[in-house]
Formats: sequence, structure tokens, C-alpha cells
Amino acid sequence: MYSLYFTAALAILPTIILAAPHNISCPATPSPLPKEASFDVVSTLPDPFLYLDGKTRVKTKEEWFACRQPEIMHFLEEYQYGYYPDHSLETVTATRSGKTVNVVVAVGSTKATIAATVNLPTGASASSPVPVVISIGGMDNAAYLAKGIAVVTFDYSAVASDSNSKTGSFWTVYKGRDVGTLLAWAWGFHRVLDGLIIAAPEIDSKRVGVTGCSRLGKAALAAGLFDQRITVTMPMSSGVQGLGPYRYHALSGQDETLENSKSGAPWWSDSTLGTFVNNSERLPYDAHTIAAAIAPRALIIDQGRSDPYTNSKGTAIVVYPAVKLVYDFVGLNGTTLGAGQPKSQIGMALRDGGHCDNSGYSNVLPFVQEVFFGTATTRNYDDLTPWTAMTTAYPWSTSIPS
Ligand SMILES: *[C@@H]1O[C@H](CO)[C@@H](O)[C@H](O)[C@H]1NC(C)=O
Ligand SMILES: *[C@@H]1O[C@H](CO)[C@@H](O)[C@H](O)[C@H]1NC(C)=O
Ligand SMILES: *[C@@H]1O[C@H](CO)[C@@H](O)[C@H](O)[C@H]1NC(C)=O
Repeated sequence: MYSLYFTAALAILPTIILAAPHNISCPATPSPLPKEASFDVVSTLPDPFLYLDGKTRVKTKEEWFACRQPEIMHFLEEYQYGYYPDHSLETVTATRSGKTVNVVVAVGSTKATIAATVNLPTGASASSPVPVVISIGGMDNAAYLAKGIAVVTFDYSAVASDSNSKTGSFWTVYKGRDVGTLLAWAWGFHRVLDGLIIAAPEIDSKRVGVTGCSRLGKAALAAGLFDQRITVTMPMSSGVQGLGPYRYHALSGQDETLENSKSGAPWWSDSTLGTFVNNSERLPYDAHTIAAAIAPRALIIDQGRSDPYTNSKGTAIVVYPAVKLVYDFVGLNGTTLGAGQPKSQIGMALRDGGHCDNSGYSNVLPFVQEVFFGTATTRNYDDLTPWTAMTTAYPWSTSIPS
């Protein structure tokens, strides 16, 4: 009897128009989500305002937040990252010993630990807490500490190995899930933040940055995407599955593509992304859609102009200006960040040099200071020199909802 009841309930689900806050009714997202073959080939960046039903377009920013942003999150889990674990089923505890915070995540009777190292700037205290950047894979700690920003690191490979072996804390509690390593690392950032809130009162958990470079930049992007507590997302030299476009992949550099990223490190994403191999132009999104789902929270994008490994030009002239249109459309959504507001919540930080140069961290620092402290900077994070925006890549720019 129960199973009959259940089947009937499931059968009517796809026709329900979901009620959303402020009585905005969202177009029904197809359920189950469409497979790769049912999407049209779209050679330019897909319209971020067009729902997955292929016919309805976002009309207001309220609707963006109530309907479209959740729809993007849902299909990104399906098509790329894998489904984020249900945090309400996790119990997180943490203890502190000197610079080390040991985070314990329990799911049922299974427990996993993550050790984080806390580097505090001079003057940080429980009565005067400081903002933090959580970093994996190493960064220019000294530059941030000198500006009053804590740097917290953890060993990403202990959270999830960068391989198909499915070892590490994430897999200890979520064995067998169809989840990519980028999401597992993102989950690591979030559980470290949970641990800091419990055991590091010198840190202000309302001002939090996340960063990493290359594959770890892809992970930092995922960390910013899947947790609204992240104030500023700082993906460095991130490439495909980060802020390198799937389309327009051949503009500069080594031409990292969906195909070569899936064959080189298939474990970064879930298995569904693999169904788009050789058909990336059927993806109903691109890197700009991933970034747009972070708006209005701050996003600063690092790329080296001479990076031989990622498509810096594609990120700068295709992805960034397309995302900025969405950021400009949604505005600040009532958000106030830290002590002040940056001029824009999104910036493109181009610099000389190549892949994962440490100089990238000092290049984005003024933007991060603006977000955390409201410290004005004269650095122009909307400068694409020596390139210019490729407007033909986002033809929908002429019909932004108003
Ligand atoms: C929202 O819709 C419900 C049901 O149609 C209605 O009773 C209510 O007054 C509406 N609220 C607003 C704020 O329009
Ligand atoms: C993609 O195309 C390449 C080159 O034509 C081919 O070798 C490969 O098998 C294809 N992969 C899939 C999954 O279709
Ligand atoms: C935007 O603002 C609305 C209304 O205050 C809120 O419900 C929603 O969560 C906000 N969205 C984001 C992404 O901040």
C-alpha cells in the first residue's frame, strides 16, 4: 500500500508548479532532468536567464533568486559535481590544540577527521576577530597576514585523494557516491569552516574567503558555489571545470577541454559529465552559469596572461564579461559585506606570468581587502588588457531582463 501511494505521489511531481517566496511561481524544472541527447547544440554561451524548460526566461531579480539560481544549483549537481551531501545528517565537532583545529564529522556511527592549520595575524582575538581565507595547496600567506587576514589551510588530499582511489575523509563517510573530487574538496572547506566557528573565536565567520589554484582553483569555485557563508570566492588559474569555458576553449593556452579533463582526471566530476564528452556544446550551461549562481556574493578571478595550461583569454573575454552581466542584473540583493562594499562584487584579476604564480595572490588582495574591510582600491578589476570582451559569445546581452 505504501509503495502504491508513493508511486502515485511521484507521478504527479513533475506537473507541480513550485511555490516560492513572495508568491513567485517558478516554471517546473523537467523531472528527471534531461539527458545529454535531448539538449540542442548551442555554440555560444547559453542564456543564463533561460530556464531548463527551454522556453521561459527570468523576468525579475526576485525570480532569479527564487527560481533560476536554485535550478542552476540543481542541474550543476546532476551534470557536473554530484549531489552535495545532506549536511543536516552530519554532526560536526572540533577541538583546538595550538595552531591545529581538529574537525570531526560524524554521519551515523561513521566518523572522519580533518585537521586544519590556523595562521592568525597579529592582534587577532576573540574580542577582535579577523576575516579568514581558507586555502588549499599553498598561497602567499605572509601578504594576507600582514593585512590582518587569517589564513587557514588543510590537506586536501586527506579529504579526498586526487585520484580514482576514493580515499580520504569524504569517502570515509560517503563511500560509493557518484560525486566528483571537486565537490569532496569543497565539502572539506565547509567542514573546516564549521570547525573554525566552534574552535577559533579569533576568526570572524561572516568574512570568509576560499582559494586554491589550478585543480584546486576549480575546487575553490565549487566551495564558493555550494555554501552561502563564503563571502569571497577566489579561484586561481582554474581552467575547465573552473572558470575556463567549455565552449571557446581554444582561445589561448594548452586548450584544456571537457574531453582532455575527463580523460586526464575523470574523478574530478560525477559520471554524468562524462556523457557530454565530444558534445560539450550540448551542456545547458557553461562556466559563466556556474559563476552566476554565486552572485551576489563576491568573486575575484585570477588568470596569468601567459598561462600555458588554462585558457586565460577565454576566462577573461568570454566568461568574465558574461558573468558580470548577471552580477549587474541581480545587484547586491540587500547584502552588506564586512565593513564596506567593493565597487563591484565581481572582478577579473589578470596579471603577467603563468600558471599558479604566487603573485596572483597579491594581485587579488586589494579586492579581498575591499570586501572584508571596505578599503577602497584604485586597482581596476575590469581591465582585460591586452584583450577585449568577445560580445558575440553572449548574444543574450542585448536582452537582459529589466
Ligand atoms: C500569496 O498567494 C496566496 C495563495 O494564492 C494568497 O492567499 C496570498 O495572499 C498571497 N500573498 C501575497 C503577498 O501576495
Ligand atoms: C570522442 O572523440 C574521440 C576522437 O574522435 C574518440 O577517440 C573518443 O572515443 C570519443 N569519446 C566518446 C566518449 O565518444
Ligand atoms: C536574495 O534576497 C532574497 C530576499 O531577501 C532572499 O530570499 C534570498 O535568499 C537572497 N539570495 C541570495 C543568493 O542572497
